[in-house]
Amino acid sequence: MIKNRSSEKIGFCDSGVGGLTVYSKFRKILDSEDCIFFGDLKNSPYGNKTKEQLINYSRKVFDFLHKKGVKAVVMACNTTSASTYPIIKNEYDFKIYPIIQSCAKIISELGVKRLGIFATPSTIASGVYESEIHKYNSDMIIYPHACPDWVNIVESSTQNQPDKIEIIKQDLDVMLKNNPEKIILGCTHYPYLIDILSKFAPKDMFIDPADFFVEYIKSDLEKSRLLNTQKQIGSEEFYVSANPEEFKKASKMFYEVNDVFLV
Ligand code: DGL
Repeated sequence: MIKNRSSEKIGFCDSGVGGLTVYSKFRKILDSEDCIFFGDLKNSPYGNKTKEQLINYSRKVFDFLHKKGVKAVVMACNTTSASTYPIIKNEYDFKIYPIIQSCAKIISELGVKRLGIFATPSTIASGVYESEIHKYNSDMIIYPHACPDWVNIVESSTQNQPDKIEIIKQDLDVMLKNNPEKIILGCTHYPYLIDILSKFAPKDMFIDPADFFVEYIKSDLEKSRLLNTQKQIGSEEFYVSANPEEFKKASKMFYEVNDVFLV
C-alpha cells in the first residue's frame, strides 16, 4: 500500500535569513502545513563556495531534514538550486522544489525582452538562470550580474549604512546600463534590499521569484495529493547551524521568528 505522506512536514533550506523571503510568502498562502526551516549560517555565504562544498552542505541539510520526517523540501536557495540540485535530486525519497527550475517557465512568460538577473557569484557562474529560461523562451535577452557583497550585508543587517548603500548602488548602476525592463532578484536575500534598490530605480522593475515559486509549490502539492488537510494552522520549527541571535535580528523585516535552535 502506498503511504499517505500528506501529514508530514515541509522542509525549507537556505544559507540563512534569505530563505525566509520564500517561507513568509509560503506561509501566507498555505499556513496549514507543518514546516521546518534550516538556515546554514555556519557555511554562509554559499555564493562564493565551490560546487563540491555546496554539495556537501546540501547533503548535510537534507539528511537533517530527512531525519525530521519531511514529505518535501523547498530549496529556497538559488545558489544550491543552480549547482547541487542536479546532483542530489534523486538521492532522497521526498519531493524537492528548486527555486530556479520551478520559476523559469513563469519568468520566460513575463512578456519581457530584456531581463536582468542579480544573483550570487556561484549562481551567475553556473549560467543556470539563462539555460532554464531559454528552454522556454530563447528570444529573451538576459543580463546576468553577480553581487558578491549583498548576502553579507543582509545577514549583518547593515544595509542602511551609507557605505553599504553605495555598494548596492554601484551594482545596480552596472545593471541599469543594459537598460533591462525587469530585474530578477535571483538570490533569496535580495528582497531585504528592495527599499534601497527602489530609491534608485522603479520598485516594479524588481521581481522576487518567491511570488511565483510559492504558487507553484502549492499547486504541485495539490496535484500530488500532498496538501495537509488535517490542520487549521501548521506548526513551525527554525534551526540554524550558527548565530541564532543574528538570524533572529536579520529576519525581522520578513518574518518574526520566536525560537531558533542551534544544531
Ligand atoms: N540566499 C541564497 C541564494 O538564493 C544563498 C546566498 C548565499 O549564501 O550566498 O542564492
